[in-house]
Amino acid sequence: MTGSPHDRFTAGPLDDRDDLPLGTRNEIITGPVSDWATDFSHLEPQWAADCYEIQDDLRQRCPIARTGRFGGGWLPTRYEDVSAIAYDTERFSSRSIIMSNFRPPREIAPIGGSPPISSDPPFHHDARKLLLPAFTKSAVSKQEPTTRAFCHSLIDAFAGRDVVDAAADYAQHIPMRVIADMLGFPQQDGPRFREFVENTLEGVNLPPDERIARMTKLFDYLIEQIHDHLDNPREDLTTFLIDAELYGNKLEPRHVAGAMALLLIAGIDTTWSAIGASLWHLAKTPADTGRLLAEPGLLPTAIEEFLRAYAPVTMARLVRQDMRWQGVDMKADDWILLSFPAANRDPAQFDRADQVVIDREVNRHAAFGLGIHRCLGSHLARMEIRVALEVWLARIPAFSLADPAAVTWSTGQIRGPRALPLRIAQH
Ligand code: HEM
Repeated sequence: MTGSPHDRFTAGPLDDRDDLPLGTRNEIITGPVSDWATDFSHLEPQWAADCYEIQDDLRQRCPIARTGRFGGGWLPTRYEDVSAIAYDTERFSSRSIIMSNFRPPREIAPIGGSPPISSDPPFHHDARKLLLPAFTKSAVSKQEPTTRAFCHSLIDAFAGRDVVDAAADYAQHIPMRVIADMLGFPQQDGPRFREFVENTLEGVNLPPDERIARMTKLFDYLIEQIHDHLDNPREDLTTFLIDAELYGNKLEPRHVAGAMALLLIAGIDTTWSAIGASLWHLAKTPADTGRLLAEPGLLPTAIEEFLRAYAPVTMARLVRQDMRWQGVDMKADDWILLSFPAANRDPAQFDRADQVVIDREVNRHAAFGLGIHRCLGSHLARMEIRVALEVWLARIPAFSLADPAAVTWSTGQIRGPRALPLRIAQH
C-alpha cells in the first residue's frame, strides 16, 4: 500500500472481489402462491397485506413450510423452532440474511457482506464487539435531544394540513436523520438512503447481476463518504470504523464499508416500520391512544407490545449441510426465513398472542432477534420510537385513519406501513 490513506479504499467490497465466483443462480419465480405450506413467498401482495393470518394458519397445519422459490427454502412459524435456529450457528449460517435469488459465495466468509450480521462465529464476536460501545444506552441517550427537536420540526411542517402521511412525512425521516448524524453523512441525502434501503430489502427477486449492480451503487456512495471523511476528519462512526483495528491491523476496506452499509440499512427501515406500525395501531384504536394520553408512564410497556405484535424484522439463514431437521429434509444452501414476527404471535409462547395488550406485563418478545446476532441497535431503536411517539402524542393527541384502504405495507423481510394517511387535529 502506498502513502495515502485514500489508497486503502479504492473499490466497493463487491468490485474488489472479482476473484470470487458468483453465487448460485436460480430461476426467478413470481406470481400468486398456490399453497402457502409448499410454495410460500414473502414478496407477494397477500403476504404484505396480512402475513399474520398466513403464518397463524401455517403454525397449525404445517409448522415448517417450504418453497421452491429462491432456489428452495423453509419457513418455521413456531417460537421454539425460530429460537432453536437463531441459537444454532453450527447448522445455520448468517452468510446471507436476505432471502433472494443470490447466494453469496462461501468464500465471502468470515466477514460477509455486512459484518457483524453476515458473520458467523468466531469472527462474529470480534466484529460485534467493535461496535458495542457506540450503541450502549448512555451513548444513545446523547442523540435524544436532537431526535426530539427533529420530531418537533417534522410536525411543525404539518401546519395547516388536516391529513398527513405518518409513514412518509414523519416515521421514515426520524431514523434517517439519526443514523446520518451518527455516521456523519449529509442530512440531505435522505432520498438516496431510501433508494438504498429499497434496493437492498425489496429488490430481492431481481436477477443476481442486476441486484449486484444496485448494491454497487450503495457501496460507491459509502466509499465516497469514506474519502470525504479522510479529507475532512470528524468524530463519528465512519471515522471510528476507518481507524478501528482488529487483531493488530486496520479493518479490511470491505469490513469498513460493509459495517457502514449494515448500520445505514438496519438503522432506517426497521425503526421507520416500528414507528409507523405503532401510529397505525393507535390511529385505529382510540381506547389505547386515550389510555396512553392519560398514563404516559405506560408508553415504554406499550412500545414493547407494539414491537411484539408488529415486529418489523424477519431475517434469513442458510442451511450449512444436508440434514434432517424437525422432520424435514433440508439441503445445503436452502434458505430459512426466520420469522421473528411469527414467533411473537405463537400462542404456545404468549397469552392472547393475536391481541395487542398495551399493558402486557411479561413480554419476552423476539422482535430484536434471539441469540448472538440480537439487535445491536435496540437501545437506539427504543429511544427513537419512544421520542417519536411522545412528541406525536403531545402535539397531535387526536388522530385517525383518513382512509383505511389507502394504507400500504412494505413487502419483503421488513414489514411496516409505507403509506399511512392520518386525519389530524394539532395542538
Ligand atoms: C425497531 C427497530 C429494530 C428492529 C426491530 C431490529 C431488529 C433486529 C433483529 C431481529 C436483528 C437480528 C438479526 C439476525 O438474527 O440475523 C438485528 C440485528 C442488528 N441490528 Fe437491529 N433492529 C432495529 C433497529 C436497529 C437500529 C436502529 C440499528 C443501528 C443503527 C440496528 C443495528 C443492528 C445490527 C448492527 C445488528 C446485527 C447484530 C449482530 O449481528 O451481532 N438495528 N436487528
